[in-house]
Amino acid sequence: MKRLQEVMQPGQVLDNILLIGFMGSGKSSVGRQLAISQGKRFIDIDKEIVDACGLALCTLFYREGEEGFRDWESCTLRRLSGQQGMILSTGGGIVLREENRVLLRKMGIVVWLDATVDTLFERAMRSKERPLLQGEENPWKKFTSLLDLRRGLYRGLSDLYIDSSHLTHEEVTSKIMEDVATWKHNSAHHAAH
Ligand code: S3P
Repeated sequence: MKRLQEVMQPGQVLDNILLIGFMGSGKSSVGRQLAISQGKRFIDIDKEIVDACGLALCTLFYREGEEGFRDWESCTLRRLSGQQGMILSTGGGIVLREENRVLLRKMGIVVWLDATVDTLFERAMRSKERPLLQGEENPWKKFTSLLDLRRGLYRGLSDLYIDSSHLTHEEVTSKIMEDVATWKHNSAHHAAH
């Protein structure tokens, strides 16, 4: 598997923090807290999509299929790509399209929130708004196979990795702030030498 990015990429915006990771990793809850702590705007891509298309996620999936949803997702990411000063929470499948990965790489510091598969599954099953798991005869099988496919993509895209399995949202928020500060410091040091 590819390693995390250790230094900033040319043209990478350092004023935005982008949260990626699988369903149940806590991107939205942590993102909201992080935005408050950092005095930045919180944007949740799934919520932007729901507001723009006027449909609940499950209805959108039902009417337009996963590809239709992915088109909304890519289009929403493009629309947000010029913004500064935001904490962006993304949907778990945003990493599937290369055009999204290319944009995310430039848009900010990418933090991969992860947890053990049991923790992710237990958290993800609490919500009814997870269209990819709705109506599945064996949601565990679907969940683990999607996760296997995506972990390499999260790793290849991210600057920082946080395992939230045993941490509260507050602890994850503090850890992100500390790790981002260290990462920026190291990147600046690397750029100067
Ligand atoms: C998806 C994850 C969801 C949402 C959509 C598709 C996925 O977001 O974007 O249901 O493909 O993993 P969360 O990761 O916030 O659950």
